[in-house]
Amino acid sequence: MSTLFRTKSVEQSIRDTEEPEHALKKSLSVLDLTVFGVGVIIGTGIFVLTGKIAKETAGPAVALAFVVAGVVCALAALCYAEFASTVPVAGSAYTFSYASLGEFPAWIIGWDLVLELALGCAVVAVGWSGYVQSLMDTAGLHMPQALAGTQNGTFGFDLLACILVLVLTGILVLGMKLSSRVTSVIVAVKVTVVLIVIVVGAFFITGSNYKPFIPPAQSVPGSSDITAPLIQLMFGYTPTNFGVMGIFTAAAVVFFAFIGFDIVATAAEETHNPQRDVPRGILGSLLICTILYVAVSVVVTGMQKYTNLTVDAPLADAFKAVGHPFWAGLISFGAAVGLTSVCMILLLGQSRVFFAMSRDGLLPEVFSKVHPTFGTPYRTTILLGVIVAIVAGFTSINELAELVNIGTLFAFVVVAIGVVLLRKQRPDLHRAFRTPLVPLVPILSVLASGWLMLNLPAETWLRFGIWMVIGVAVYFLYGKSHSRLGRHLPKLPVDQAP
Ligand code: ALA
Repeated sequence: MSTLFRTKSVEQSIRDTEEPEHALKKSLSVLDLTVFGVGVIIGTGIFVLTGKIAKETAGPAVALAFVVAGVVCALAALCYAEFASTVPVAGSAYTFSYASLGEFPAWIIGWDLVLELALGCAVVAVGWSGYVQSLMDTAGLHMPQALAGTQNGTFGFDLLACILVLVLTGILVLGMKLSSRVTSVIVAVKVTVVLIVIVVGAFFITGSNYKPFIPPAQSVPGSSDITAPLIQLMFGYTPTNFGVMGIFTAAAVVFFAFIGFDIVATAAEETHNPQRDVPRGILGSLLICTILYVAVSVVVTGMQKYTNLTVDAPLADAFKAVGHPFWAGLISFGAAVGLTSVCMILLLGQSRVFFAMSRDGLLPEVFSKVHPTFGTPYRTTILLGVIVAIVAGFTSINELAELVNIGTLFAFVVVAIGVVLLRKQRPDLHRAFRTPLVPLVPILSVLASGWLMLNLPAETWLRFGIWMVIGVAVYFLYGKSHSRLGRHLPKLPVDQAP
């Protein structure tokens, strides 16, 4: 047991960051954090999932689903903020858990994060492909169906999504960073497009499209199997779409739209005043995104009857449906530009988590070799990039998004529990930001995340379970005996870090 819970001390992790040659510049303000947050958060969730979920699960009440998901995220965000400010070390919940909860929980969370970030990237790539194809359609160009991705249940390889991931992988291997100026431009384009949808779209709202706002529950033929939400199977409900339960099922999926705020927490080390700015940055970007999401879904379901929304590029297609292809083209363009940065940040994040796990010896150390010229963890980046590209080519967006969500919600649960445990184990640590009302807020966060998890289909649980079982097997067969901490080896010199 003591092996499983061996830790790397919090103090050591922090000391590493204070050495002058490794100290990151503390240059970020609350505004920078909020812009960064909005840049990472707004993506496929709002541009694509809104249409599918309104059409199939919630109707116009998809707006309420965004509110529910936003509240769940806000609770988790308060816990993340304490984590990030106690150990303001660049990295992720993996590094943090290693320092606080021990090696095995850290492994579990790292394995989970790789799933979340890698598949999240695939989802965004598939969403991007939908918008590029909508743009091509406007220009009279059409992808052959076999290469246009899975549509209406007909399988097609998603060539564009696959190519996007490979190109971004190449960029990451070369170590080209998007300058903060480029990122700001991308964020500006994306937010402008969202505002256009809200402001221009508002002129095309037809009141009757909102009736009924919460469509009556419909039982789904043949879905008393593993495609039904776990909670319905557990308590013997007849699985339904729409209705009040449909809002929660929808919230569990549109939750995807909020993923990314946890990445803001990792910038704590580079922030002037983490105690004040990190929680403000995280909660501020969450609040802005929730307002934008609710407004977009209200407008889009008002422009087109929810049953007529399309699933690949619903925002742009709603404008086409009301006879405005110009706006549709502009929206597709903005979405395509905006989604590339989300995809790239998720891809970067997962390769860094994998890299960190390999550098700690929990995965083969061959993956933590850094490229001699480019200084990037190229092996990890290429391995995972190719896998993500293939997954993006073959899988449909919904299945993937649900798997990403369960993984992220699981991380929220672990983080919330971690906050409470660490308060007990290490009350002495300086906490720049303290989660309010501990243990109430963490308990609410666990319950809220757990509730959304239960609203995901049983088959998603099954897939997640399989992924975790593989993870536990890899740990016991490899990681446990190869861990650098276990072998009492120092970490690799930091100059081998990317
Ligand atoms: N929140 C991000 C998106 O919706 C991951 O694409």
